[in-house]
Amino acid sequence: MSERLEDIAGAMVASGKGILAADESSGTIKKRFDSIGVESTEENRRDYREMLFRADEAMRKYISGVILFDETLRQKAADGTPLVEIIRNTGAVPGIKVDGGAKDLAAFPGEKVTEGLDGLRDRLSEYYGLGARFAKWRGVIAISDVLPNRGAVRANAQALARYAALCQEAGIVPIVEPEILMDGEPGDHSVDRCYEVTQEVLRAVFAELFNARVSLEGMVLKPNMVIDGKNARKASVEEIAEKTVRCLRATVPASVPGIAFLSGGQSDEEATAHLSAMNAAYDMPWQLTFSYGRALQAACLQAWGGKPENVAAGQRAFSHRARMNGLAATGNWNR
Ligand code: 13P
Repeated sequence: MSERLEDIAGAMVASGKGILAADESSGTIKKRFDSIGVESTEENRRDYREMLFRADEAMRKYISGVILFDETLRQKAADGTPLVEIIRNTGAVPGIKVDGGAKDLAAFPGEKVTEGLDGLRDRLSEYYGLGARFAKWRGVIAISDVLPNRGAVRANAQALARYAALCQEAGIVPIVEPEILMDGEPGDHSVDRCYEVTQEVLRAVFAELFNARVSLEGMVLKPNMVIDGKNARKASVEEIAEKTVRCLRATVPASVPGIAFLSGGQSDEEATAHLSAMNAAYDMPWQLTFSYGRALQAACLQAWGGKPENVAAGQRAFSHRARMNGLAATGNWNR
């Protein structure tokens, strides 16, 4: 595989494929396992993720890259094969979550800033050695009638830009993820309020990327869709698609090769329908695809339930979502 940043980024957003976000931190994967009554042990986490990565046909056809948590990047399958090698053998690019999580931002009640820049240069060089060719950093932006404050937006944008520059120095493609929460509190914002905040945040992020001398050709943007809050959902698929595309056109330079959405708490089918509606109806300068966590894994997690005899059923559930989202990435999904 070519090692130029542009080529890696291009592979990550190849037509009809998208990214599997399997980088749940220890706390988040425990929540997911709690929901199916499975204990979050190192072995169970390994078995679960090995099941996903060994869904060979779905991985080869629909998954361009996999975002891993530190533990998974170092883990071996039950038969001793490194999980990274299993991923690479499917043709997908291994990636790594490098942020240290969103922490309370001093002096900004209710707002967060993502930590993890200290020592990042050394960690990136180790991750490169372990096979990671892209990375992810998630900034979290609260949304309400009065939030976010400009100071919180700027703090997160600057951290994303410094992270992205360090990644590119290390030969790693940064996924730049500023997430405006649809499932935070109060979660009653309208789709138009989401448009306004998403536009402000993306403008701030691209201004800081420019200041930090990040090459836009060698990155992937991972934004939220322009969607109303979880407690106020009423916008139609067409409205969300239209407003999301309009907002991205107004803020994201054409030199960015691809945009891969997070699912953010949308149902599996909503996440697929929205992506497909955008690709079906609009011409855009970038590839528009998915980088879903929950929307690719929820059905699989349920079908698996932690039982070895359910691995094939879990893989079928994951493969189905992967195929549906692969179709959505070219605008060809139908209910
Ligand atoms: P969701 O698709 O579940 O929002 O997760 C994607 C992700 O990687 C969030 O950082």
